[in-house]
This record gives sequence, C-alpha cells and structure tokens, in this order.
Amino acid sequence: MREYTPLTITDAVLEQMAVTPDPRMKEVMEAAVRHLHAFAREVNLTPAEWIKGIEFMTKVGQACTPARQEFILLSDTVGLSALVNIMHDKTKMEEATSASLLGPFFRENTPKFETGAQIAKKTEGKEVAMYGRITNAQGAPVPNAQVTVWQTAADGRYDIQNGIEEIDCRGIFQADDKGNYLLRTVRPLGYFIPLDGPVGQMVMSQKRHGMRPAHIHFLISARGYRELVTALYLAGDDHLDDDVVFGASADLVAHVKDDDAACPIKGLPSIHFDFSLARESEADKRAGRVGADPAAVTANNGQDTSKPYGAPPPEMAAAVAAKKPGIFGGLFRGR
Ligand code: BEZ
Ligand code: FE
Repeated sequence: MREYTPLTITDAVLEQMAVTPDPRMKEVMEAAVRHLHAFAREVNLTPAEWIKGIEFMTKVGQACTPARQEFILLSDTVGLSALVNIMHDKTKMEEATSASLLGPFFRENTPKFETGAQIAKKTEGKEVAMYGRITNAQGAPVPNAQVTVWQTAADGRYDIQNGIEEIDCRGIFQADDKGNYLLRTVRPLGYFIPLDGPVGQMVMSQKRHGMRPAHIHFLISARGYRELVTALYLAGDDHLDDDVVFGASADLVAHVKDDDAACPIKGLPSIHFDFSLARESEADKRAGRVGADPAAVTANNGQDTSKPYGAPPPEMAAAVAAKKPGIFGGLFRGR
C-alpha cells in the first residue's frame, strides 16, 4: 500500500482528482488543494488548530440567513473579495470607472424612484443631492442606464440589518436620454461591519477597528455595457486608507459641496460624480458579480430574519465615540 508523507499526500489527492471532466473545475480545485496543503505545512497546523478552523467555518455558515451573508463578510475582511474584484476590473475592454465591493447588503428587492426622488424615507440625516452623467469610455452619453443605489441610514446601519422586511435608503433610478442621473439621499456615515458574528470575533481578535469609510453603493447597467458595481467614498473620512474590507480607492472619492451652482436641485449640499462604462465583452456576460443578495445565496436556516444584527460590542462603539463624540455619539443607540 501507498505510504503518505506530508509531501506525497498532495500528489495523491491531485492524482485522484485528475479525471475531473470540467477543465476549469479541475484547475481551480487542483490549485486550491496545493495551496491548502502548502498552508498547513507552512504553519505546521496542529489537530486542535485544524478543528478550531472547522468550528469557525461552521459558525460562519450557521450565521448566514437570507438577510445576512457571513461568508461574503469573511471573504471581504480577508481581502479576497477585493482581490477578485481588482482582477476582474483589469479585464474590462477599455478604461472606465473602477469597480468597488458589492458587499453583503445589496438586495434585489429595491424600490424604483423617479429622477430626483429621496431614497431615505425612514431615517433622519443631512440631505444631500447626487447628480452626474453616465458616459461611455470615450465620454459620449449612455442613454437611459439603470442606476441602483444603496447606503446606510443616518445611524450607520443598512435596512436589511434591521430585518428582511425593512426597506430604506436604496433605490433604482433611470438616467435620462442624455445620460444624466439625479437623486437625493442623506449623508452616509462610516460604519462598523457586522461584528456580532464569527467574522466580527475574528476581526476583533486581530485588534482591527472594524470600520468602513462613509460611502454610497452604485450598480449601473445599460445594454451593451459591462455592469459597473462600484461605490463613492466621502472625502475626509478617517478610514479611506484602512477600510476593513479594502474597498475604497482614490479615484472613487467624492466631495460634498455646499454651493455647487451646477446641481439641478438648488439649496442642498451635493455630490457630483460622472460614471463611465466599458463596452461589454462576451466574457463579461458570464463573469458574474463579486457579491449577491444574501437571499439569493442562503436559504433560511431557521434563524429569525426579522431580528436586528450587526451591532458592535459596546466597547468598540465607545472607543470610536470617544474619538469622535459629535458624529458617533448616537450610533447603535440602545442595541
Ligand atoms: C458594504 O459596503 O456594504 C460592505 C462591504 C463589505 C463588508 C461589509 C460591508
Ligand atoms: Fe456599504
């Protein structure tokens, strides 16, 4: 019989998988096994550590519901989502607005709004207008693109964190035939990613701050163009350079102006940002998104999806509030 050593075990697994009919699956699984084995050898993984890892992944799976995607959060916090996103972004046919993370709070169930409407119906906050143009890579208008936006409410939480029935601070708009879009929202806040689950435990045990800079998500699509999943990050936020999920980039930083005469809504602070779309390739049609509506990935595993989630432990919130009393003092009040 074969004797396995720490090195030959890898070849034995690869040999057994060599008949995998799907070539891409074969390639991906072979690399996964090689790297997984190399990782175990490099750290000299002990049985106790191995079972701890299994327990952790089990908890990550158990935390998932149609309203919560803890696996996407894990992928985000170890930079895998950002890596896949950056690699995907480099495959676009022509220079256009860069992509950013879709994150775990996107949902398909999003209301449609008329141009200029306010998406924040249930939250208070500083109103802000957003406007700009959707163009192609050469700067010509892309008519009638669909613009989906979502962001936190004024308390730094997404609607879905308060229960799957909650819908606020998200909307679908249509740009006009000259590519112009216009909407109203409230100024988003930087926020803690959900820290009350296994991924939060990991982040806190690594002594990371657990925060994302303030941002607004965009998903823009138009026939014949590559879907753009991106976000705009507010200038001046303390965490632009150390986003816990590595999504922020300099070209996506947006400025809130108090008196922009070009803004179609007068008397409101505003953000002006023009987006450009790359033409769609055949490969783009099959590429998919780095992220999904949690409900599209996770069946209900018996957990209560109407229960709020994601509140940071009081000591994490207090540490931030101590640094920025004015802004974060009321964040996660009573949770
Ligand atoms: C977000 O921006 O919505 C997000 C992205 C990754 C992890 C957590 C939140
Ligand atoms: Fe977000």
